[in-house]
Amino acid sequence: MGRQEPPALLARVTDIGGERLVTSLGEWDRVLGGGLVPGSLILVGGEPGIGKSTLLLQVADLLAARYGRVLYISGEESAVQVRLRAQRLGTLTGEIYLLAATDVEAILAGIEELAPPVVIVDSIQAMFLPTLQAAPGSVSQVRECAARFLHLAKEGGPAVILVGHVTKEGFLAGPRVLEHLVDTVLYLEGERYQAYRILRAVKNRFGSTNEIGIFEMAGGGLREVLNPSAMLLAERPAGVAGSSVVACLEGTRPLLLEVQALVSPTTFGNPRRLSTGLDYNRTLLLTAVLEKRAGLHLGGYDIYLNVAGGMTISEPAADLGICLAIASAFKDRPVEARTLVLGEVGLAGEVRSVTQIERRLEEAGRLGFRRFLIPAGNRSRLISQGEYEVYDVRSVVEALEMGLGT
Ligand code: TYD
Ligand code: MG
Repeated sequence: MGRQEPPALLARVTDIGGERLVTSLGEWDRVLGGGLVPGSLILVGGEPGIGKSTLLLQVADLLAARYGRVLYISGEESAVQVRLRAQRLGTLTGEIYLLAATDVEAILAGIEELAPPVVIVDSIQAMFLPTLQAAPGSVSQVRECAARFLHLAKEGGPAVILVGHVTKEGFLAGPRVLEHLVDTVLYLEGERYQAYRILRAVKNRFGSTNEIGIFEMAGGGLREVLNPSAMLLAERPAGVAGSSVVACLEGTRPLLLEVQALVSPTTFGNPRRLSTGLDYNRTLLLTAVLEKRAGLHLGGYDIYLNVAGGMTISEPAADLGICLAIASAFKDRPVEARTLVLGEVGLAGEVRSVTQIERRLEEAGRLGFRRFLIPAGNRSRLISQGEYEVYDVRSVVEALEMGLGT
């Protein structure tokens, strides 16, 4: 043990140890809070095959181009396999050093000489310490190996990025057991058979959480999507009932999402309620509000709800949009295409204000939306309304009148 540092005045504590390491992959940098902090420990989790190795090889290349040596430790794929991937990605230009190894003691002994500013460990489940009895991938191995890399990072060493596999079932010996240990936890999500991938910060000691980066998986690896709202709304059918657009905040960024509803008469037994991308209980609650407060007799109908593009919405700000989509489908009357709907809905059918309304409307305005149905409570805080038609609503009933012309 070294000598204990005396307590320091908080205001005098110096900032993060040096400049953040940035890439030209803006989405990656932003999710990290503006780049990789030297000496930090980062966990990148995701299901097998989602694109973690692809992303990190690209990041390794971009970092190597700017900061020199990046060490990529591959515990799962052989050196040849990694090279083939790098060739496909066109990332054979920079100074990426490859080590196909799994013995952490040996790896750490070898790192000293190279002294890279960034080390990528793909994956933490493949690593093992020979002194431990347990098998690689077990909780104790994963935890101990990660602790060694933490030590490496914190002793004035490189930024270390650990890759961790998560399975659908939640997975015990993976990222979950490491979340408290690392500085930053990022998850790469998406449907394997759909092109886009979302990189989400769920913990970040150096930036805001819930920040997301959106990528598209293409032939040459992951490409950033610079205008995700436009991409997500691109295939929205025009003039069809059962669709509404809401603006949700993902981290610091507003994102426009389409809520779709299908309402059809129940043919047998109890009516079905299904929702993908939305909280199931929340949608039941909103359905009940529509029945009781707006007088829609939904009891004999099946209701299917979906967020287009495989996205998920967890914000109550989307409540009113969900209500409008259901009512639109039920009445078979489309919502005008350039209408954005915002508002949290309470059990009395009242519409409550949402946070950061200006930023949401700005994003909608940028994408050509012109009619805004917003909570009356937000109106007073709206500085300007520009060339937009802004309607303030107090209740679900009012919103249906304005949104569907009922
Ligand atoms: P990979 O990075 O190996 O996933 P993980 O490390 O998370 O297990 O990604 C594998 C998938 O990505 C594979 O199914 C093929 C696809 N892919 C592309 O579509 N384009 C590419 O350029 C590359 C390298 C992979
Ligand atoms: Mg991989």
